Amino acid sequence: MAVQVSPSRIDIVLATLGKGECIGMPTETVYGLAADASNGEAVAGIFEMKGRPRFNPLIAHVSDQGMAERYGVFSEAARKLANAFWPGPLTLVLPLKQGSTIHPLVTAGLGTIGLRCPQGIAHDIIDAFGRPLAAPSANRSGRISPTRSSHVMAEFENTSLVVIDGPDCDHGIESTIAKIANAQITILRPGSVTADMIKQVTGIKPSFHSGDDIQAPGMMKSHYAPEAQLILNQNDAPEAAGLLAFGPQSNGSHSGPFYNLSERGDLREAAANLYDGMKTLDAANIGTIHVQPIPRDGLGLAINDRLNRAAAPREGSEK
Ligand code: TXA
Ligand code: MG
Repeated sequence: MAVQVSPSRIDIVLATLGKGECIGMPTETVYGLAADASNGEAVAGIFEMKGRPRFNPLIAHVSDQGMAERYGVFSEAARKLANAFWPGPLTLVLPLKQGSTIHPLVTAGLGTIGLRCPQGIAHDIIDAFGRPLAAPSANRSGRISPTRSSHVMAEFENTSLVVIDGPDCDHGIESTIAKIANAQITILRPGSVTADMIKQVTGIKPSFHSGDDIQAPGMMKSHYAPEAQLILNQNDAPEAAGLLAFGPQSNGSHSGPFYNLSERGDLREAAANLYDGMKTLDAANIGTIHVQPIPRDGLGLAINDRLNRAAAPREGSEK
């Protein structure tokens, strides 16, 4: 049974987040499935609960601009937009700040981060927690976004999810997503903050673009797809190649560069280690990385999806 808690029980909410678990959190747009954005296993838990077959980037929710500036690089236009529309239904996609503690599963290994400052209960929770919460809409993959706590309770009735009994969402549609780069603004997802409103505040006329193709192999950044060629579903690797392992028996006879995604064969741990594993082996300057089979159920689907993309042929310069 999902557990409904009053917004006044911030102690329960903070304890749940502190354990690396998700909460159902009201925002002004839709209810979010929120977890600690700095904790990889907590973020992997979001994908697991949603049953998402793919690791698309998540929005990091902050309590104020000061917190946002620790994670994203703000240009003048970005600052104007934050001043005008935060707290509120606007997500800014900005360059990721170097050395940020946001887990790479949140940014999908990209060099950018989606930041949003919600108001009301969500604001109070993030403020008390002291660091960002990653939160997609609190529905299972492929289903409608929830705008009432009862929707979230029904969606996750067979889990122990803690759902905050907040008010119905004001906007009922997801936030506008605006990407800001090189003094250009691109709307990746339309929402209540319109292109006209953005132009009025910044003087820049936004263009429109679907965010879908950031997932295309040709668009992968170097820390998103390794330089080395990945060869999937291999139990072992030649000495000169790296081995990206999964499970207890994987140390085997391989003497080359080695990284185990999860020695205990836990998919949540493996998901949390995925980008670090690819990056670490890639840093060994090897031509090839062999990857052991990962079970194709639950989170394993998203892990295999990401590995398949990283293994796909890609264009040289944008790797
Ligand atoms: O209103 C909202 O934005 C809600 C509430 C809960 O805040 N959240 C939400 O999250 O709609 P989600 O995960 O359903 O949608 C997030 C979108 C995805 O389409 C994702 O691709 C995009 O944001 N996104 C996040 N970070 C990005 C990045 N660095 N670059 C491009 N797109 C990004
Ligand atoms: Mg959604």
